[in-house]
Amino acid sequence: MFSPFGAPAERNFVVGLRMQILDGKKAAQSIKDDLRIEVAQRANEGKKIPHLAAILVGNNGASETYVAAKVKACEETGFKSTLVRLADDISEFKLLEVIEDLNENTDVDGILVQLPLPKHISSKKVINAINPDKDVDGFHPMSVGKMVEGLPTFIPATPYGIMLLLEHYKIETKGKHAVVIGRSNIVGRPMSILLSGNSNPGNCTVTICHSHTQNLKEICLQGDIIVAALGIPEFVKPDMVKPGAVIIDVGITRVADSTRKSGFKLKGDVEYDTVAPSTSWITPVPGGVGPMTIAALMKNTFMSCKNKND
Ligand code: GUN
Repeated sequence: MFSPFGAPAERNFVVGLRMQILDGKKAAQSIKDDLRIEVAQRANEGKKIPHLAAILVGNNGASETYVAAKVKACEETGFKSTLVRLADDISEFKLLEVIEDLNENTDVDGILVQLPLPKHISSKKVINAINPDKDVDGFHPMSVGKMVEGLPTFIPATPYGIMLLLEHYKIETKGKHAVVIGRSNIVGRPMSILLSGNSNPGNCTVTICHSHTQNLKEICLQGDIIVAALGIPEFVKPDMVKPGAVIIDVGITRVADSTRKSGFKLKGDVEYDTVAPSTSWITPVPGGVGPMTIAALMKNTFMSCKNKND
């Protein structure tokens, strides 16, 4: 499905192991390049071009960054985008009305509400209000149910992006033990379903770990693949990782750093410098899972547009 990269991945040679980077930036670019060509073709044929509507409530710095990156990806691929910015004290009722308007707008193919939402708003209610045919985040119970059944549907963007990254680099997953740390509906749970599915990538034996897991270190040490998605910076240390393991770092936490203009630096859930040398493949932070999440969202939006209009 994907063409291999021209340039070799960055390599390290430590204790006889060759560590390679799972470069999400490059893989995402190749997906976006393909989409841009397909969108241009659609435009030439007079077909509808994809339109993503993003709702951002409040002004959480990280959410602002993510939504801006999604809008930018739309520009790069020739998608139409609409950003709906709402004050953080907007009522749940008003937000549901905005979603209803977007549901009814036949020009809009995909709707996403950036999470987290302010505490007075129920994310469950909000997610349930999105028309499943436009649920490009794949969070609606209908989408989740279809994913569990292995039916065609929107897959949540982060786990979908990780599957695309594994596919892009032809990482062998069949029969491997994948340890997923974190059980969120956005990443951990869907990831465990996808990796255990009868697919390629997939066919893993999956262990899902969380805050009540006992012997976490011993379980991680059994992992041929570790997906760290718990949101604690540098949680995964070298003594938790089997030599040669494949490491997928989903964490992206802003950690204060006064030497930087922004005042922070981004840290993954894996202590990269100490863990990376003994792995076979690892995602960097930033530049690993993040760009793949956005590429996957673009693919979902493209699929929605085709499903509804062709
Ligand atoms: N917040 C963190 N990840 C995501 C995501 O994939 N989609 C949305 N809508 N919000 C998020």
